[in-house]
Amino acid sequence: MKFIENMKWRYATKKFNPKKQISNKDLEFLKQAIQLSVSSYGLQLYKVLIIEDPKIRQQLRAASYNQSQITDASKLVIFAHHRSLTSKAVDDFITRTALAQGKNFDDLKGYGSHIKDALGSKTENELEHWASKQTYLAMANLINACAELKIDACPMEGFDKAEYNRILGLNKLGLQASVITPIGYRSSDDETQHFKKVRRPISELFETI
Ligand SMILES: Cc1cc2nc3c(=O)[nH]c(=O)nc-3n(C[C@H](O)[C@H](O)[C@H](O)COP(=O)(O)O)c2cc1C
Repeated sequence: MKFIENMKWRYATKKFNPKKQISNKDLEFLKQAIQLSVSSYGLQLYKVLIIEDPKIRQQLRAASYNQSQITDASKLVIFAHHRSLTSKAVDDFITRTALAQGKNFDDLKGYGSHIKDALGSKTENELEHWASKQTYLAMANLINACAELKIDACPMEGFDKAEYNRILGLNKLGLQASVITPIGYRSSDDETQHFKKVRRPISELFETI
């Protein structure tokens, strides 16, 4: 029953301690939290990049309004969605399902066609928007999983997507940077850790109909 406690503990970390690194064991836990995230149809049409290289991080910081989290956090996690849906992506998903659930590929083909038809009716922009939304679900799980381990994180949209695509060579992979999350440990002199949470009151946020 620590979930709410963890959510109160976490905050969008502005200043990380550059000396404190996330252990490999914790990183594997966080990867699983991302892997197990829900996604529409279960397609997971995105790639998650974990950036460690300090030189690349410096370039990315310049493309992120010079926000220090980009270089100072232990890892920089970048969620990048696929810009289009290929027939192969759906077929791969059907194959994964068949293998995981012990079913015949041919019995699931109809479901694959349904997905292709449903998503095929979207415009390119709609599809990209849809794919990008999935990454936010994964990011939310990453942030909550971090809080469980008392690892700090900062969800971030304040970066130049075109520049990220260029620096990381995402265009040629058909990917687009969607949202990013530096993760690591807060600096003791990050004043914002002491700020009270600002949230709309429950009475205003909810409506029971
Ligand atoms: C999608 C998204 C984008 C954000 N972008 C940034 C950002 O670029 N830089 C930053 O310092 N904080 C960023 N934030 C953090 C929010 O400002 C913060 O989560 C919000 O004010 C609530 O505060 P808390 O997370 O400390 O509870 C972002 C949050 C979200 C969800």
